[in-house]
Amino acid sequence: MKHSCRMLFMSLREGTMFLSVIVFSSLSVSKALGQTEPVVDSSYIAAVYEHNVILNPDPRISLSRPAALQHMQRNLDIYEQQAARAAQQGVQILVFPEDGIQGFNFSRSSIFNYLETIPDPQQESWNPCTEPGKYNNTEVLQRLSCMARRYNLYLVANMADLQPCPLKTDPSSSCPSDGRWQFNTNVVFSSDGLLVGRYHKNNLYFEAAFDTPPQPEIITFDTPFAGRFGLIICFDILFYEPTIHLVTKGVRQLIFPTAWMNQLPLLDAIQFQHALSLGANVTLLAANIRNDKMIMTGSGIYTPFSVKSHHAQKGDPVEGRLLVARVPVLDPLLAGQSVTDGSTAKDSGFCHKESRLDFPAPETSSSVPPSSSASSTSTFISSMMYDPFTFVLLEETEGKVNVCNGTFCCHLQYRLIPQGDSKELYALGAFGGTHTVNGRYAVQVCALVRCAGLDTSSCGQEIEEAESKMDFQLEGRFGSRYVYPSVLASKFVLEQPKHFETAPDGTVTMKHSNMTGGLVTACLYGRMYHLDNE
Ligand SMILES: *[C@@H]1O[C@H](CO)[C@@H](O)[C@H](O)[C@H]1NC(C)=O
Ligand SMILES: *[C@@H]1O[C@H](CO)[C@@H](O)[C@H](O)[C@H]1NC(C)=O
Ligand SMILES: *[C@@H]1O[C@H](CO)[C@@H](O)[C@H](O)[C@H]1NC(C)=O
Ligand SMILES: *[C@@H]1O[C@H](CO)[C@@H](O)[C@H](O)[C@H]1NC(C)=O
Ligand SMILES: *[C@@H]1O[C@H](CO)[C@@H](O)[C@H](O)[C@H]1NC(C)=O
Repeated sequence: MKHSCRMLFMSLREGTMFLSVIVFSSLSVSKALGQTEPVVDSSYIAAVYEHNVILNPDPRISLSRPAALQHMQRNLDIYEQQAARAAQQGVQILVFPEDGIQGFNFSRSSIFNYLETIPDPQQESWNPCTEPGKYNNTEVLQRLSCMARRYNLYLVANMADLQPCPLKTDPSSSCPSDGRWQFNTNVVFSSDGLLVGRYHKNNLYFEAAFDTPPQPEIITFDTPFAGRFGLIICFDILFYEPTIHLVTKGVRQLIFPTAWMNQLPLLDAIQFQHALSLGANVTLLAANIRNDKMIMTGSGIYTPFSVKSHHAQKGDPVEGRLLVARVPVLDPLLAGQSVTDGSTAKDSGFCHKESRLDFPAPETSSSVPPSSSASSTSTFISSMMYDPFTFVLLEETEGKVNVCNGTFCCHLQYRLIPQGDSKELYALGAFGGTHTVNGRYAVQVCALVRCAGLDTSSCGQEIEEAESKMDFQLEGRFGSRYVYPSVLASKFVLEQPKHFETAPDGTVTMKHSNMTGGLVTACLYGRMYHLDNE
C-alpha cells in the first residue's frame, strides 16, 4: 500500500498564486473568513521547501549506521543549500517535508540505523550543535541544529525517532513487541539551534516502520516573531487529534510536513491544504515531497487571506521548490486579541470551543428530495474517492439542483459559462457516511465536479483539466461545524472562494464567480469528527 498519506493524481505544473490582501479586502470571503485585515501590524517571513527526496534504492534492506548516515547526509546537503537560500530572503521559519531525510517504505527493522533518540525538549534543554557530545548517534539532529543556528532561522524537519520502552513520559503504556518505540517525528530548532519541539505523528498511513504514540501529542512551540505554532504531520490533517485539538486550544498557526499522494477530485494536496486553512481559519505551512512515481507534489503557505502554493504539472522537471512568503501573525496573544480559551471565531463557529458534538442532525423535514429540484431529473450513484456518492447531472446552462444522500442534502445554484466548443459534463454529488478505504473517517461532502468523461459513470473519477467556468452557490446543512471549502480550477490552480459562511443552524454556503480557469471541483468537505469511532 501507499505510505503516509495517499491521494492519487498526476499532472503537474506550477500553480503559484497570490491572493492576499488585495483580494481579501475586495471580496466577500472576508465577511466570513476574516472580517477585516488581521488586527496585526506584525508579520513574518515563512518558507516551505518541496523536496525531491533522494531515496534509498532498497529501503527494505537494513543498512549499517554509516551507510544510513551517508544516505541521509545527501538529503541534508540539499536542506543546507535551501536554508542558505531562505536566509538570504530573510526567512524566519523554514519547513521541510515528511520523510524528506530518510525516504519511505522501510520495514520496522530496516529503518533501525536511520533512527536517532530525540530527547524530549519539555524535559531537558539541549542544543545539539553546541553540545554534540551529550548523546551518541545524533548526527542528523546535530546537523539540523547547526543549520538553524548558522542561518539564524527556526527550522522544522521530519525524521525517525527511537525511544526506549517504557516511555519516560508514559511509564504505564504497553511496549511494542520488540521493546522499542519508533516514531515518525517532527523536530523544531530555534534560530540558535536549541531543540524546542518534538512531535510524534498520531495518524500513520501504512507506515510499517513506525508506531502510533500511546497518547495523542498536542505539541506547540513559541517564536519571538510570530508567537505560537502547532505541529501536525500528513494524514493528521484529516483528524481531530491533534489538528482540531490544537485549533480548539487557540493555536492558529499550524506546521504541516507531509508526503501526500494526490487524489482528485477531493483530496489533492494543495486543495485540502487551502481548504483547511479557510475552514479552520488558520495559517498552514505545508511542505510536501516531490516524487512523480508516488504522485507527490503540492506545497504552500496558506493564511485565511492569502495563498502562495506550488503544484508541479505533468512534464515539469522533477526538482525541489522553495516557497517564501510574508504572512500576518495570527497568534491571538501576539495579534493583540483576547483569547477566550481557544475560541477565536466570532460567528462562524469554526474555532469555537470544545464541543465535538456539533450541530444537531438536520431534521428529515428540512431535506429536499431530489425529485423536487427545479431542473434535475434523476439521481445516480457513482463512486468518488471510494465512497458511493449520490449525484445529479447539471443539464442546463443555468438552474438549481439538489441532491441528497439520506437526510444530508446539497443545493446548487449555477450558471455555466462554456468556453470554446468542448462539451463537458458536470454533476453535483452528496455523501454522508464513513469513509473506510485507506483510513476510516466520517464525512459529509457536497461536491460539484467535472465528470472525467461524458458518461455518468465517469462522475467522481479523476480529471485535472476543464474549460467550463461557472458562477455558483453551493450549500449544505452540515451536522458539524468543521467544513472545509475548496475551489480547484484546471491544472491545479486554486481559487479563493468569494464568499464562505456558516449559519448557526449548520448551513454552510460557498459562493464563487468570475473564475480564472475551468472548474474541476468545488467542494464543501465536512468532517464529522464526533462520529469517527462509531
Ligand atoms: C513503496 O512500496 C509500494 C508497495 O509496496 C510500491 O508500490 C512503491 O512503488 C514503493 N515506493 C518506493 C518509492 O519505493
Ligand atoms: C558514546 O559511545 C561511546 C562508545 O561506545 C561510549 O564510550 C560513550 O560513553 C557514549 N557516550 C554517551 C554520552 O552515551
Ligand atoms: C478568523 O480570524 C480572524 C482573525 O485572525 C477573525 O477576525 C475572523 O473573525 C475569523 N473568522 C472566522 C470565520 O472565525
Ligand atoms: C447515504 O446513503 C447510504 C447508501 O444509500 C446510506 O447507507 C447512508 O445512511 C446515507 N447517509 C445518510 C447521511 O443518510
Ligand atoms: C465579475 O466580473 C464582472 C465583469 O468583469 C464584474 O462586473 C463583476 O463585478 C465581477 N463580480 C465579482 C463578484 O467579482
